[in-house]
Amino acid sequence: MTGTTTGNVEASVLRVSALTKAYGPGTSLLSRFATGRAGTLKALDGVDLHVRPGEILALVGESGSGKSTLAKILVGSTSPTSGDVSIAGEPAPASRTKESSRRVQMVFQDPYSSLNPRIPVGRMLSELLLLHRIVPRAEVRAESVRLLNLVGLEEDVLTAYPSQFSGGQRQRLAIARALAVRPEVLIADEPVSALDVSVQATILELFATLRTELGLSILFIAHNLAVVQHLADRVAVMYLGRIVEVAPTAQLFTEPRHPYTRALIDSIPRMTETSVNDGFEVDGEPPSPYDVPAGCRFHPRCPLASEVCRENDPPLLAVGPAHESACLKADELALIPVPNVPLEQR
Ligand SMILES: Nc1ncnc2c1ncn2[C@@H]1O[C@H](COP(=O)(O)OP(=O)(O)OP(=O)(O)O)[C@@H](O)[C@H]1O
Ligand code: SF4
Ligand SMILES: [Mg+2]
Repeated sequence: MTGTTTGNVEASVLRVSALTKAYGPGTSLLSRFATGRAGTLKALDGVDLHVRPGEILALVGESGSGKSTLAKILVGSTSPTSGDVSIAGEPAPASRTKESSRRVQMVFQDPYSSLNPRIPVGRMLSELLLLHRIVPRAEVRAESVRLLNLVGLEEDVLTAYPSQFSGGQRQRLAIARALAVRPEVLIADEPVSALDVSVQATILELFATLRTELGLSILFIAHNLAVVQHLADRVAVMYLGRIVEVAPTAQLFTEPRHPYTRALIDSIPRMTETSVNDGFEVDGEPPSPYDVPAGCRFHPRCPLASEVCRENDPPLLAVGPAHESACLKADELALIPVPNVPLEQR
């Protein structure tokens, strides 16, 4: 490990520092009964992350690791317990203004949740364009058609209702809606998880095209590393409310420096019959965020864990250029090469 900290000051369109989000036990007996808990749940426990201009940054982690909580804080729909959020170098106001919420837009796993089924597409887009004064009234129709074409839809859908669309078309529509206000950053929270595999590929291609054509910055959230392998410039891996590794995508796949990342890579199906079984599999559920393990939070599931890991909570540190890991044995892991078996293509 190089031993330098991650406090770089490179340009970012979105940055969070020391971000935490705790959910209390709730005051009613009913909520305590529902959760079966009386303590505090740490959904985010000190997250540092930034999105660079024009990049696709993937955020990957198991269910419950805090990905959506981070996304909601970034778009201002929930507030952090502590820590800072800045948009294009300026602190994001605690209550988002119309302008600050315009700059960061979100696309959800279920596009239906952001589309009003009773409003036709043309009206949905024109209301947004006028509310945010994106174009003069006389240009609203042309701008709506431009947005639809941008996401691969045609002018004739202007009069259609969201219920008339297929899953993939609905996601395209949700993306057009998010782009209507000309955001600087798009946050896509598992936007392909609910789609058929064949449709997933076309929506992934659309994100890649939008980044190239619009210079858009995208935070792309996924459960599965394989989904982002050919899309993302960098990948941030999240575990139990923390970022545990960040690296350029190719480097993360070939030289992971955190055992959890290594386990995620090993779990991706391979092109050949050869199965990868080199001891890095992670079985079972992660520990409860109500009771985060002392020391390294990954130690109960880590094949490399030793006494030092139970006693020390590793910070995210630089392990190479643009590569950071929160593992006390990142250097040891570098000596155990990833099996050279081609991954299945997505
Ligand atoms: N409003 C809430 N009240 C209490 N706990 C919450 C709330 N929202 C999320 N949590 C908890 O916070 C933790 C992180 O949840 P979050 O939805 O951010 O995870 P995620 O990584 O997006 O998971 P998934 O992959 O399943 O979408 C989980 O333990 C979840 O149960
Ligand atoms: S610090 Fe120890 S327990 Fe944590 S990931 Fe590294 S080797 Fe595993
Ligand atoms: Mg989620």
